[in-house]
Order: sequence, then C-alpha cells, then structure tokens
Amino acid sequence: MQLFIDSANPKEVKEMIDLGIIDGVTTNPSLATKAGIDYNEAVKQILSMVPANVSLEVLSTEAEGMIKEARSLSKLGKGVVVKLPATEEGIKALKTAKAEGIPTNVTLVFSANQALLAAKLGATMVSPFVGRLDDIGLNGTEVVEEIRQIYDNYAFETKILFASVRSPLHVKQAALIGCEIATCPYDILKSLVKHPQTDVGLNKFLDDFKKSGQKPIS
Ligand code: E4P
Repeated sequence: MQLFIDSANPKEVKEMIDLGIIDGVTTNPSLATKAGIDYNEAVKQILSMVPANVSLEVLSTEAEGMIKEARSLSKLGKGVVVKLPATEEGIKALKTAKAEGIPTNVTLVFSANQALLAAKLGATMVSPFVGRLDDIGLNGTEVVEEIRQIYDNYAFETKILFASVRSPLHVKQAALIGCEIATCPYDILKSLVKHPQTDVGLNKFLDDFKKSGQKPIS
C-alpha cells in the first residue's frame, strides 16, 4: 500500500520524504492557501523533491480547458498525475487524457457510480473523499468498500486513493479495504507510529537498564 502526503507545504513534504514513508503527494490550491504559500511556487518546490506520483489539480471547468491544463501540467515532470474533477466535463477530459497517455486522478469522488465511470474510462487513480462524506453524516468508508467491490468484480485497474483522511482510523480502514493508496495530512502521517504503550515500554526498558548499572554494548 502506498502512502501519499496531502499537502502544499514543501517543508512537510521534505520531512516525510526524509522519514521515508511517503510514495507521492496530492495537493490543491486550498492546501496552498492553508499553508500560506503561493500555489505555483508550492508545486515547483514539491516537484523538485518528489519524482513520482504528484497529483496536481486542473482549475478549468470545461473539458477543453482541462485538457489544455493537463498537457501543460504533465510537461512539468514525468511524475505528474493530473487531477480531473468527477464532473461530466471532467469525464470528457479524462477520455482525451487517456488517449494521450496522461496519467489521471479523478478527484472529488463521492459515489461508487462516479468511480465506476472513472474506471471505465481508464483513470489511473480515483479519489473518494471519505472525510467530507463523514462530515455530512454519511459513511465515507462504505463508499470506498463499494468501489473496491466494483473494481474487483470487473478487474478494473484504476487504483483507489482513499482521500480526505481525517484520522489514523481512516488509514487503517483504507488498508483493510485494500485501497492501493491513502493520502494523509502531515499530522496524521506523524501520528501513525505513535502509541502510548510504546513510550511507556521504552521508558521502562531504559529505566531498568540504567538501574542495572550496565553500559550499552558497543
Ligand atoms: C485529495 O486529493 C484532497 O486534496 C484531500 O484529500 C481533500 O481533503 P479535505 O477534505 O481534508 O480537504
């Protein structure tokens, strides 16, 4: 399973690369606003650090504009994956992108049917926004389970990218469902390794060793 960082903050991206746990990045203009950084500048910096799997959003609403942007974005680097919205225009653009060999991430997916269409047209990955479904009282994880089943039923190769992650529990659910990817905010990635019992246990080992008066083997 791959883990991506969902961020437009180059410092966060760099820290996670150094930690060695991320395989890619998803970003969007809202994340850049949140990070207080110019979106174009963030994209440039992220692409200089991450060679593969960098999902970048198109900002047009018409298929023609989306495709023009997709062509320009994919020229920025080999690792660029173009994010197209799950709208009728996005689906139109997806067909052309597929024909031109541009890797795509169909984003803002909120239903299994949207994911079905994305897979039929050969999207590289599809991003169900789980947290935003949960936010409005629906069950985002259930939608991902449906997508998994549909993709398995027809052997679709489109990867499921569990997006809009709100908690470490979402990451575990993504892994249990069999999503190929989960994209997580920085804080969630940092929290994955944490367990209070690990800290308690480690402190006890260190304490007991100190009390024994021995020195570490060197
Ligand atoms: C993914 O591509 C999106 O940037 C992201 O997961 C959206 O998450 P949010 O609902 O926390 O904004």
